[in-house]
Amino acid sequence: MKGRDIVAVLGLMLVVAVVVNVAEGDPDTVTKVKMVKGKKMCDKGWECKGWSIYCCNDTITDYFQTYQFENLFSKRNSPVAHAVGFWDYKSFITAASLFEHLGFGTTGLKTMKMKEIAAFLAHVGSKTSCGYGVATGGPFAWGLCFNREMSPSQSYCDDSYKYTYPCAPGAEYYGRGALPIYWNYNYGAAGEALKEDLLNHPEYIEQNATLAFEAAIWRWMTPIKKSQPSAHDAFVGNWKPTKNDTLSKRGPGFGTTMNILYGDFLCGKGDVDSMNNIISHYLYYLDLMGVGREEAGPHEVLSCAEQVAFNPATSPSTASS
Ligand SMILES: *[C@@H]1O[C@H](CO)[C@@H](O)[C@H](O)[C@H]1NC(C)=O
Ligand SMILES: *[C@@H]1O[C@H](CO)[C@@H](O)[C@H](O)[C@H]1NC(C)=O
Ligand SMILES: *[C@@H]1O[C@H](CO)[C@@H](O)[C@H](O)[C@H]1NC(C)=O
Repeated sequence: MKGRDIVAVLGLMLVVAVVVNVAEGDPDTVTKVKMVKGKKMCDKGWECKGWSIYCCNDTITDYFQTYQFENLFSKRNSPVAHAVGFWDYKSFITAASLFEHLGFGTTGLKTMKMKEIAAFLAHVGSKTSCGYGVATGGPFAWGLCFNREMSPSQSYCDDSYKYTYPCAPGAEYYGRGALPIYWNYNYGAAGEALKEDLLNHPEYIEQNATLAFEAAIWRWMTPIKKSQPSAHDAFVGNWKPTKNDTLSKRGPGFGTTMNILYGDFLCGKGDVDSMNNIISHYLYYLDLMGVGREEAGPHEVLSCAEQVAFNPATSPSTASS
């Protein structure tokens, strides 16, 4: 009897919680609609604002909720993790809200939207993982275990950028964040875009999870060079490959996002482990999110094993990295 009473009370509390949640969410999620030159544009309040075609349908909180984030990053607060208490769902959603009107997680039908979030988070998870083959929960349960490089071997100051992104005295530009940023010029460019003084305060990224996610989503949404697609454009299919791209085996899809973000550190080397690890995170997340790995497409689309890098590391602009 006692047990049943407790269950009933818990049930009541749940109902109350849900009602309150809806009531709170209501004013924010009213979608305002207008037509501009025959196009339907919407504004959905805090999460997707600014009159965009991307704010008319589901936004990220409609299909990706706290429990899914917790499932994907289930080991991040375990005692052996290195950023316990740092990362959370709210910081991801707050950061994402700056980019949803541009199409981040809001392009195409629901499956495409969910696939993009899985793809982006797969890059994040594999780059911040402390999982190994023998880890409990499996090797892919350990994303967001780090928020910074633990034993930097240098301060990543490239003096050839001294006129554009001069290193601040004493600042260390080692890897930090959700898609770790290295080097003064990368902190400088991200800081310019996010209107934060990251060149003088690179430490902000390891102190603020929202900012760490913002910098990562900015990287995903922004081409490395103007003539090239962003990882977002390559993934959702906004980008049309040129003949040169086709000859270089680059087409729309997950494989090309790795090419954009990591070039020939990862791509054009055959089926290497470092590449397969990111792909495996993506497939694992698709399963956990309920999309299913069969939606990922064939291996050619997932892989960049045969692709020529957009930006070979031997070119002058990245020679130092
Ligand atoms: C929103 O959904 C409608 C109906 O499913 C679809 O026709 C439209 O293309 C979608 N808009 C965007 C931006 O995906
Ligand atoms: C973290 O960064 C975000 C984005 O710049 C900012 O809005 C927020 O106030 C920061 N939080 C703290 C605790 O400084
Ligand atoms: C074609 O691709 C190669 C190798 O990626 C590159 O060096 C060359 O500049 C590209 N040509 C054009 C016209 O983009």
